[in-house]
Amino acid sequence: MLKGKKILLGITGGIAAYKIPFLLRLLKKEGAEVQIILSPFAKEFVTPLTLSTLSERPVLTEFHNKDDGSWFSHVNLGLWADLFLVAPLTANTMGKMAAGIADNLLLTTILSSRCPVFFAPTMDLDMYHHPSTQSNIKKLQKFGYKLIEPVEGELASGLKGMGRLEEPEVIFEIIKEHFEKKKALKGKKVLVTAGPTHEPIDPVRFIGNHSSGKMGIAIAEALVDEGAEVDLVLGPTSENTEKQGIKIHRVTTAEQMFEKSMQVFKNEDIAILSAAVADFSPSNIADSKIKKEQGFQSIELKPTKDILASLGKVKSKKQILVGFALETDNEEANAIKKLNAKNLDLIVLNSLRDKGAGFGYSTNKVSILDNKGNKTEFALKDKTEVAKDIIAAIVSVLEQKK
Ligand code: CTP
Repeated sequence: MLKGKKILLGITGGIAAYKIPFLLRLLKKEGAEVQIILSPFAKEFVTPLTLSTLSERPVLTEFHNKDDGSWFSHVNLGLWADLFLVAPLTANTMGKMAAGIADNLLLTTILSSRCPVFFAPTMDLDMYHHPSTQSNIKKLQKFGYKLIEPVEGELASGLKGMGRLEEPEVIFEIIKEHFEKKKALKGKKVLVTAGPTHEPIDPVRFIGNHSSGKMGIAIAEALVDEGAEVDLVLGPTSENTEKQGIKIHRVTTAEQMFEKSMQVFKNEDIAILSAAVADFSPSNIADSKIKKEQGFQSIELKPTKDILASLGKVKSKKQILVGFALETDNEEANAIKKLNAKNLDLIVLNSLRDKGAGFGYSTNKVSILDNKGNKTEFALKDKTEVAKDIIAAIVSVLEQKK
């Protein structure tokens, strides 16, 4: 399964490094090409000779070969790899990775790589649970790096708890699974709208809503994991994504979101509209700040363009269009009405009545309805998991359209 797969294996200075030769043997036996990069301190825990013998390649630590002066290009190494695994990953190197520090070959190569990165942090109990460690793990996950969680057990310090490196056999299975998994959306182009819109009243005020954009960003990230290329049209929010494969188009108003979405939709296979677009915007925007003394009491509004309905009108038979419905009453009936009226393939319904669902939360509870009358209800889940359910539903529509 791993024949010809190129793996960069970064080892940092933790006691669990002694397990890596076993992992290396498993990878090599399955046909992978493995290039080891050691952090400067790692060689205190595992010998370069063992690693170079097993990997059948020189082990790299320095930017250049001190003997002949030749230089190892971190850029070439980064581009060479199909997968980068850092195991074990110490708190020190993890902190540097999270901060973008590049003071050794391993760190610099991680910054230069374009392939999926897996990381297996190991450390003592309290270090692992420290808020700085936990926030660094979250930060690396935000980059799209995959966490191989440590397991419970006896630690080198004698303490018992979370922090042991996962067994080499299990890490090996995780890597194999990654390569075996068929990416369902490989080569597909997808438009995602997310976040709120702001409709200006005057230069300092606007009409907006509580949408954070978290759901749409989670969808965009999960799409990339399935092999898609994403255009994310994102309204004004502090939420962000740094994941490669997502092109972010920042917009502010409903009109701008409409223009950008219409423009990119022509080249897309799928569009998922999760943005909370304002339905109305002020008819007149004051050029200068409206003063209290002017005593204005009402704002005249005009309807905005319905992006979802407009895409529904121009969509081809091959394109898949997915809308969201946020309802408080007659949820299902309203969602079906929107699905039909706007020519959608799927509609994702979330009810504001469900606890933990909707604006601002990191969880959501949805039902997905298709245009054939099928409905699937899902439990309250993390938005990253909800995103996977939505994508699975899209993949099955894609199969039906074939
Ligand atoms: N939507 C859109 N453009 C708008 C308004 C909404 O693309 N101007 C999209 C949203 O992104 C979402 C879906 O339409 O996918 C439903 O939005 P929602 O506000 O729930 O429904 P509306 O159709 O606006 O109807 P209502 O406000 O009456 O519920």
